[in-house]
Amino acid sequence: MKFETRAVHAGRHIDPGTGAVAAPIHLSTTFERGADGEYPLGFSYSREDNPNRRALEQCLASLEGGKEALAFSSGLAVVTAVVQGLEPGDHVLAPDDVYWGLRKVIVEVFAKSGVETTYLDMTDLDGVRAALRPNTRLVWIESPSNPLLKITNLSAIGDLVRKTQAVTVCDSTFASPVLQQPLEHNIDMVMHSTTKYIGGHGDVVGGALITKFDNYLFERARKAQKYGGSVPSPFDCWLALRGVDTLPYRVRAQSENACLIAEYLQRHPAIEKVFYPGLADHPGHSIAASQMSAFGGMLSALVRGGRDEAMAVAARAKLFIRATSLGGTHSLIEHRASIEGPQTRTPQNLLRMSIGIENVEDLIADLEQGLLP
Ligand SMILES: Cc1ncc(COP(=O)(O)O)c(C=O)c1O
Repeated sequence: MKFETRAVHAGRHIDPGTGAVAAPIHLSTTFERGADGEYPLGFSYSREDNPNRRALEQCLASLEGGKEALAFSSGLAVVTAVVQGLEPGDHVLAPDDVYWGLRKVIVEVFAKSGVETTYLDMTDLDGVRAALRPNTRLVWIESPSNPLLKITNLSAIGDLVRKTQAVTVCDSTFASPVLQQPLEHNIDMVMHSTTKYIGGHGDVVGGALITKFDNYLFERARKAQKYGGSVPSPFDCWLALRGVDTLPYRVRAQSENACLIAEYLQRHPAIEKVFYPGLADHPGHSIAASQMSAFGGMLSALVRGGRDEAMAVAARAKLFIRATSLGGTHSLIEHRASIEGPQTRTPQNLLRMSIGIENVEDLIADLEQGLLP
């Protein structure tokens, strides 16, 4: 079945008890055992498994072309579950501009874990080859990256790391399964903050890890989910899965809008630089074109001047909402460095935009009045 059809049908079924077409939300924490002590319908206790979670996991596994998926209570709970599976003395490679939350997990949650991390430019293949060590167990990729929209060559890294004992994980949150399927590019596992495009409406926090084949880090993440207890609620799973119904249509509309906005910003005298992989002069443009079906709804721009000028542009926005996060139906604008805090590596004049599904002419008009007061 094609992607759009799986987005609506995978993991779903008509409720056998009532015939309900929209899935009921199964709030029950516990499930009846048969007289023989078995669980005839396959559910025993909601932390271990729940019908809404199972439906979401089956659907996401199908959309990513994976064997299995695990749904978590947030995107960072996925990162935590994966890192928790490492052993003291293990080495991790991660992008130098990785989503700042991953650095926080490694530094603040796993400070005493004995895991060593090297941050490097994942677009530099020779650098990645040189940085791999005999004890490298995890190679973390993020493409497109947050907030610089760097593009990593997934197949090249996947092929390189396959020859080692390390597992590759791609954070594909910015692309969503609509635009990019890392498992097709020899990546072992893919993760999403389902808070973003998958939920898609800015009303649910969640995460997911999808694997192509059995591996020990996935099995350990399963334990972190079921026994560590970082599970999403049934309602959270229901909301995320409801979002998936329209995912392909939303993401394509967001990508089309973002392309036009990136072109508009690139021509604007108040803008120094635009980071958007759909622009021909983006260093990752041709790789993005080969591994993504469109360029996504996220872009960043450097405002001429500095922090104050960038803040002023965001302050004048009327339609764009000044807020963090991304992937929802409404457009958001954010001064990224100030949310990331004093250790940020993000330029002070950078504004990150999550483009929504509004009419693009209204969005451009809003930027126009904000850039030229
Ligand atoms: C690329 C990326 N990965 C992971 C996360 C973390 O996800 P969550 O906020 O759901 O924990 C985010 C959140 O912004 C993100 O942008």
